[in-house]
Amino acid sequence: MVNYKDLGLVNTREMFKRAVAGGYAIPAFNFNTMEQMQAIVMAAVETKSPVIMQVSKGARNYANATILRYMAEGAVAYAKELGCKHPEIVLHLDHGDSFELCKDCIDMGFSSVMFDGSSLPYEENIKISRQVVEYAHKYDVTVECELGVLAGVEDEVASAESHYTKPEEVIDFATRTGCDSLAISIGTSHGAHKFTPEQCTLVNGVLVPPPLAFDILHEIEKKLPGFPIVLHGSSSVPMEEVETINKFGGHLEAAIGIPEEQLREASKSAVCKINIDSDSRLAMTAAIRKHLAEHPGDFDPRQYLKPARENMKKMYIHKIVNVLGSDGKLAQI
Ligand code: G3H
Ligand code: 13P
Ligand code: ZN
Repeated sequence: MVNYKDLGLVNTREMFKRAVAGGYAIPAFNFNTMEQMQAIVMAAVETKSPVIMQVSKGARNYANATILRYMAEGAVAYAKELGCKHPEIVLHLDHGDSFELCKDCIDMGFSSVMFDGSSLPYEENIKISRQVVEYAHKYDVTVECELGVLAGVEDEVASAESHYTKPEEVIDFATRTGCDSLAISIGTSHGAHKFTPEQCTLVNGVLVPPPLAFDILHEIEKKLPGFPIVLHGSSSVPMEEVETINKFGGHLEAAIGIPEEQLREASKSAVCKINIDSDSRLAMTAAIRKHLAEHPGDFDPRQYLKPARENMKKMYIHKIVNVLGSDGKLAQI
C-alpha cells in the first residue's frame, strides 16, 4: 500500500472548495508520457496553480502502474526543484470503470479517483460509486462520479440532449453515493471531433458549435449549492494546431471543440474541474510533425520532443491563465 500523502500529493477537497468559492476551475490534464508530465508541472509552477494530473485506464496500462507512482512522486519533487515551495498536485484516475481498478489506484498512490458508472443503470451506478467512496474515504482519497452520458461524436444534437444530466437526480445521487464531486453532461464530449459541421453555425468563416446547456448547469447548482461540478470533454481544439498538423502531412478533418469563452463562463460557476486531453495531443503532434518536416535528418527523439514539450507547456499556461483562471491560486505561494 502506497499512501499518496507520502508522495507529497494532495486530494481535491480543499482546492475544489477554494475554486468554487473563488469562481475559477482547476485544470485536469491527462498525461501518458514523461514530456506531458514535465510540461504540466512546469506550467503549474510558472503560473502558481494547483493542478490535477490525470491518467486513464489506457494511459496506466501504457505507462505502467509502478512507474506512474514514481512519476507522481517525481512531479512533486520537480515542482519544488523549479522553485514552488508548496505544490498542490493531484494524481487522479480518469474514467475508472470498476471498483477493482479504483482500489488498485488508491493502493498505488493516487490521491483522487473517478468511478465512471454513467453508462450503467442508475441504481448500479450508485451501488458501485458508493463502494468506491467507502474504500477511498478510508484513505482520505477523494472520488468523482458521473451522472449523464457525454454525447458521442456521431450523435445529433437532439439525441445528445437526451443524455444530459437530469437535475432532478443529482441530490439523490450525491447523497447516496457520498461522492466528492460530480461530472455532468451538458453538451461536451471527448476527442477532437465534438460536433459535425452540420451541427454548427458559420460565423465570420468560423464554425461555431451549439452552446453548452448552461440552463441545466444552473439548475444543478441550485439543487446542490457549492457542490463541486466537473466538466469532461473540454478541449477547444485550437484551429492553429489542426492547421499545423494538416500542413505537415496530417489529415484531421472537421475537428471542432468547445469555444474557450464557454469554458471561461463555466469556470465562474460551480464547475471546478475542467478536463483537457485532446488539446495536449494536438499540441504535441503539431510540434512533432512540424519539426520532423522541417528537419528531415533529425532522429534523436529529444530533437522533436523538446519543441513538443514547449508547445504543450504554452498551451497549459494559456488554459490556466486565460480560460480557467487558476493562476496564483495555490494556498501557500
Ligand atoms: O476521457 C478520456 C481521455 O481523453 C483519455 O483517453 O482512454 O485514450 O487515454 P484514453
Ligand atoms: P477532451 O477529449 O475534450 O480533451 O476531454 C478529455 C477528458 O474529458 C478526459 O477525461
Ligand atoms: Zn473524460
